[in-house]
Amino acid sequence: MSSKIYKWLDSRLRLQPIKQTLLDEPIPGGASWIYVFGSATLFLFVLQAITGMFLALYYAPTPDHAYDSIQFIEQEIAFGAFVRGLHHWGASLMVVAIGLHMLQTFLYGAYKPPREVMWMIGVVLLLITLGFAFTGYLLPWDQNAYWATQVGINMVGGVPVVGDFLVRVLRGGESLGALTLSRFFAVHILFLPALLIVGIMLHLFVLRRVGPAGPWSDDRAKLGSETFAPRQVYMDAVVMLALFVLAATLALTVHFPLADKANPSDTTFVPVPEWYFLFYYQLLKYVHGPFEPLVTWMLPAAFILIVLFWPFIDRNPARNPSQRRVAMLAGGGFLIVVFGLMALSLRDLYAERRIDPSVAHGKAVYAQYGCAGCHVIHGEGGAVGPDLSYVGDTRPDREWHYRHFKDPAEVVPGSTMPRFQLAEKELHDLTSYMLSLKEDS
Ligand code: HEC
Repeated sequence: MSSKIYKWLDSRLRLQPIKQTLLDEPIPGGASWIYVFGSATLFLFVLQAITGMFLALYYAPTPDHAYDSIQFIEQEIAFGAFVRGLHHWGASLMVVAIGLHMLQTFLYGAYKPPREVMWMIGVVLLLITLGFAFTGYLLPWDQNAYWATQVGINMVGGVPVVGDFLVRVLRGGESLGALTLSRFFAVHILFLPALLIVGIMLHLFVLRRVGPAGPWSDDRAKLGSETFAPRQVYMDAVVMLALFVLAATLALTVHFPLADKANPSDTTFVPVPEWYFLFYYQLLKYVHGPFEPLVTWMLPAAFILIVLFWPFIDRNPARNPSQRRVAMLAGGGFLIVVFGLMALSLRDLYAERRIDPSVAHGKAVYAQYGCAGCHVIHGEGGAVGPDLSYVGDTRPDREWHYRHFKDPAEVVPGSTMPRFQLAEKELHDLTSYMLSLKEDS
């Protein structure tokens, strides 16, 4: 029955050649689990496209409503939190899949002739994916989104000659605001998907012209080849299913909260980027002053060019890693640096997390009320009032601080410290900060 239908369709649509290109493509050396990362990436892109379409039904790309619309999706819409979770974790998994895909291509020397063009299109696809990550990060319009994007845009501003122009193109106006959000949204859902789809088609077109590279050793390749279907199709499908289960599990179990709604006047907020940008974020912390342009744009630009033209830089014809010392050292060194920076960044973030949030907020209150105008803490501030560097040791009593803040002159007769109208929480957190100022911390 089904073969009859197939025959009929084939007689009308001439499916046979399509089946040949899609399923009968020979893989030198046969199917392998190591070849699944390309299709895994493609699958994750489709997952992003589908979940993105559903999110777009409710998302409102304006500063007034973006944050609320995400909250609405999270709290009111059936499966809203789940779909947003899939989109969030799908993006992370896509970065991982691309990383592994590139690693495999690199290790197998699969970028070598005749596959240079395929590698270069792949690098462009990676850049487009990072464009998705950058534009998507702003859309929830929370504090993290706003300030991380601010940092990113400022970095582009450092590029000589065209920097200001690029900043204006990215921002769409004088400051990060409504115009920025609507253009990031348009780029995220229209421009980049169109580019990515064309890029994927070219990538696959070239693959069909040059064929898969197969194993690096000719001996293994000579063991015989195998068509794409059925075994490679089966392996790819298993990995896709596993990825969906993983993304769904993460979406259901790991909640990633929104930060507070974006507040453009709160310049003290320190944003944290997505995990896959952490290594770079860490690098930025180390370089200041005249060397800043080195990391804000020179290094990334040089790196992108090197990776893009890598097939022409690495002229060694061997594909076997044991005959490619330089390439392996370069690749291994890069991975060590990236993961090392990432580990340092995570360590710092973890240390910051351990600070009591009440103390952190108290510190902000301290800055907000200009206490430093009269008080010194570790050498910073004015010397009108007492040095507060170790006030937690000398005045360990919370109640004392409450009474003192409410009316200094009543607690310390003759005090010239002004009274501050502090809200209950401000009073509490400011006092927590005072009590945390101790010699042994
Ligand atoms: C106009 C200057 C001035 C400002 C502004 C000011 N203080 Fe004071 N502060 C003083 C003076 C003078 C004293 C010493 C008299 C006293 O204890 O009331 C003092 C005392 C203190 C003490 C007691 C220190 C001790 O060791 O006895 C604390 C704690 C303190 N200030 C915290 C703060 C905080 C927090 C702020 C910001 C909300 C602040 N002060 C703003 C002038 C100031």
